[in-house]
Amino acid sequence: MSLNIAQILHDDLITPMVRKTAYGLATTCILGAAVYAGYCVAAPEKHIIRQHRHPELNDQIEKVVDSLKITDDQLIHIMHILEEEMSAGLSPITHKQATVKMFPTYVRNIPNGTEVGQVLALDLGGTNFRVLLIDLRGNARVELTSKIFVIPQSIMIGDGRHLFCHLAECLYDFMLKENLLRTGICYPLGFTFSFPCRQEGLASARLTSWTKGFSCSGVVNEDVVKLLQEAINEKGINAKCVALVNDTVGTLMACAYKDPATAIGLILGTGTNACYIENLDKVGTWNSDYDEPKQVIINMEWGAFGDNGRLNLIRTKYDEEVDLSSINPGKQIFEKMISGMYMGEIVRLIILDLLQQELLFLGHRDTYGDYKTPLYNRGGFYTKFVSTVETDEGIKFSNTRRVLEDIGIHNPTYDDCAIVQHICRQVSKRAARLAGAGLAVLVNRIGKSDVTVGVDGSLYRYHPRFKRNMERCMETLVNKDVKFALETIPDASGIGAAVTAAAECRSGKGAAMVACVAGKPYLVNSIVSDEETADYEKINS
Ligand code: GLC
Repeated sequence: MSLNIAQILHDDLITPMVRKTAYGLATTCILGAAVYAGYCVAAPEKHIIRQHRHPELNDQIEKVVDSLKITDDQLIHIMHILEEEMSAGLSPITHKQATVKMFPTYVRNIPNGTEVGQVLALDLGGTNFRVLLIDLRGNARVELTSKIFVIPQSIMIGDGRHLFCHLAECLYDFMLKENLLRTGICYPLGFTFSFPCRQEGLASARLTSWTKGFSCSGVVNEDVVKLLQEAINEKGINAKCVALVNDTVGTLMACAYKDPATAIGLILGTGTNACYIENLDKVGTWNSDYDEPKQVIINMEWGAFGDNGRLNLIRTKYDEEVDLSSINPGKQIFEKMISGMYMGEIVRLIILDLLQQELLFLGHRDTYGDYKTPLYNRGGFYTKFVSTVETDEGIKFSNTRRVLEDIGIHNPTYDDCAIVQHICRQVSKRAARLAGAGLAVLVNRIGKSDVTVGVDGSLYRYHPRFKRNMERCMETLVNKDVKFALETIPDASGIGAAVTAAAECRSGKGAAMVACVAGKPYLVNSIVSDEETADYEKINS
């Protein structure tokens, strides 16, 4: 079966085209050749390229794109495998070898919106680091002020002490600007640390491995709360870290503050991961008390799903290449097929492959040799480009043309644009369907008729069709008697750390912190919206 341009231009693109063509023909009959000529002028490339295109080229493109397709049956198979891997992570016998670690988080009290107080939060999970002052006002109301700091590449891969020193310096700057230093109040601090950690308590967590491009020395196996607190103390900052949460947990908690039906947290950003509320009797690795509430949030670390080869069936040569050229080969296989850190790179490798097979950019053979252009360089096609290309509707491809210009392809043809958009769509759709299948496993497992999922992350927020594609596939995979809703709350991962600290206070376990939080009233306002965009801009390979 050959792939023709009509197939490439499915969905929203084909409809306007068909409409336009039909309209053009009708008009031709009525108004004659002059109007038809006008139509030809309006879409010149379409005419020329269609004559150029060889059907056998389409077949070859289709072959490449087909390798990205995952059927519903395959997704169901993947869901079964994920369930097995989850059981392995939860069992004390198999936990050590398990790839999906299913770490118990010690977060057991889900907020109910009544928590109040002022809490500081640090949110570290990618190239940006955010410091927040959060004012929980009860009645599910939150106000905050925050500042974003960049983590330079040299710190991301340098000495761990420098990393924590940098975090403490950023906190100091923020508190200085907000007049929080030397107030006589020791501010409680929630730390959103979005890397795999084996928790030993709410404020004690050992890093098991770095992900997402970090590789600071001297941190793996260390208690990151201790390292942070030491750096804070060294700078004489009046703050105490009382809770560490993963960003998925922060997102679940922030969402639960508004909607108590929230039982799952999902991140689709630089990395991907999920957490959910599990009954203690299912957590074989649980080593603390069995008091009420008999539940705990499990940080799945699902990004590592497939690290033992169980996803090889659906991996393509592009996935293998992305993995091999990464800082952590063989690790985070599921994440590398889904998240923002890798998506642009997958697209770039496919484009390069098509170009080398002489299936794309046929008018650009003269630029093939220019290896300095972003197209030829790792990370040259940002994940934000995938979103930009996919926002193009109709036949002009103005965004796609801009993106191609950016990577060094000038004056692409209509076919070039359509093919690049098709590739982007297939890569992001595959990611959305994989994430959707993972999420369906959790929604089915919760065992309630109404489940809210707190979702956050730049990929989810800014990609024009990720949510829709994920929901569509979940509608097929989630049990028919379960209703699910995907909710997004601004700044969820940071707010969640604060809510977690406050929820612990409500449970009576953090009495010292309540005293600490009950400081003088503090002026708060909302964040600058540009910051979020800045975060997304940074996502590339
Ligand atoms: C990576 C981290 C994980 C985090 C996710 C999303 O997978 O290992 O802890 O939740 O990225 O940021």
